[in-house]
Amino acid sequence: MAGNKTFTMIKPDAVGAGNIGAIIKMIEEAGFSIISMKYTRLSGERAGQFYAVHRERPFYEDLCSYMSSGPIVAMILEKDNAVEDFRNLIGATNPAEAAEGTIRKLFATSIEANAVHGSDSDDNAQIEGSFFFSEIEKF
Ligand code: CMP
Repeated sequence: MAGNKTFTMIKPDAVGAGNIGAIIKMIEEAGFSIISMKYTRLSGERAGQFYAVHRERPFYEDLCSYMSSGPIVAMILEKDNAVEDFRNLIGATNPAEAAEGTIRKLFATSIEANAVHGSDSDDNAQIEGSFFFSEIEKF
């Protein structure tokens, strides 16, 4: 059975463009509850750890510098079928391929600066949420 939690980050491009509020409004209007939230900034090293699964990819170094280039907002979200429903809300990784009305279609500027991250499985939602929040911070 699908889990009811997912993890997201609002990325440096969207934070820098002043889109935190608009993105959170879309998340809440889509029926997600924010159960943990943190405004923070990743070091290059922490970004590398978060995206370690991509370390063999050609874009890895650029991705780590970009993700540490400014503040981000990390959140754990709750909703039935959270992972799949959130990925539908954010749209394809490449905003050029994202469906109309999705967060990335509206706010992303490139495949790298794509406004938001969303976990791709229940297991990764758990791992990624724990990367930012201790047990006591997860309501
Ligand atoms: P995200 O959903 O956070 O997961 C991995 C990230 O790597 C992705 O969003 C993009 O920001 C980035 N990414 C994925 N594919 C590419 C690519 N081909 N070129 C540059 N960045 C990419």
